[in-house]
Amino acid sequence: MTTAVATARGLSARAAAAMLLALALAVAVVLGVYAKAHTPAGRPIFTLWFSGMLQMKVWLTTAALLLVLVQLTTALWMWGRLPAVASSPGWVPVVHRWSGAVAFGLTVPVAVHCMWSLGFGTQNARVLVHSAAGCLFYGAYAAKMLGLRVRGLPGWTLPVLGGTVLTLVVTLWLTAALWFFTRSGLPLT
Ligand code: HEM
Repeated sequence: MTTAVATARGLSARAAAAMLLALALAVAVVLGVYAKAHTPAGRPIFTLWFSGMLQMKVWLTTAALLLVLVQLTTALWMWGRLPAVASSPGWVPVVHRWSGAVAFGLTVPVAVHCMWSLGFGTQNARVLVHSAAGCLFYGAYAAKMLGLRVRGLPGWTLPVLGGTVLTLVVTLWLTAALWFFTRSGLPLT
């Protein structure tokens, strides 16, 4: 959606923001319905060089979390919100874009395994929050990517979407990877 399309359709800034919210919820609901409706396979598709699916997912998620923190730092730098740091050099937006793209790429094999192999878990609050956050993450990410291309959005839209994506990645890490790192007796890699 470009400025031209948005204005040609007479979309107000608020209507465009509402459209992004609707997109985010639609993506999340579709993923959640798939994960709930399909019978969990209970096995990995691949484990890369890790000893098991659990280890693969935990380390890919941890790498994604670190890259998302790079995203936060570079975003604050670009907006001049880092205390005592001058305006951002030209490479900062490049690092922001690529750290986001790689972080997203790392989440895909993890989420595919979560949804296909484990499904939408509801056995306890941690797993329920995790499953919902996973679905919402892709909705928020889709809205953020589209939001970058829609001109005339309210000024808070991109910071809110970016902050939501960041919060959801932190939530996913806390509800799954942290649990793994606090267990004993499991192979670390
Ligand atoms: C970016 C998205 C996601 C990330 C980074 C992520 C990450 C992880 C990690 C690291 C684990 C622990 C390893 C394991 O138990 O196999 C896990 C477990 C799990 N994930 Fe996800 N996940 C994501 C999305 C989802 C989605 C969309 C669902 C379902 C709708 C889901 C459902 C589950 C379930 C049920 C578990 C097992 C939890 C347990 O019993 O402890 N995840 N996830």
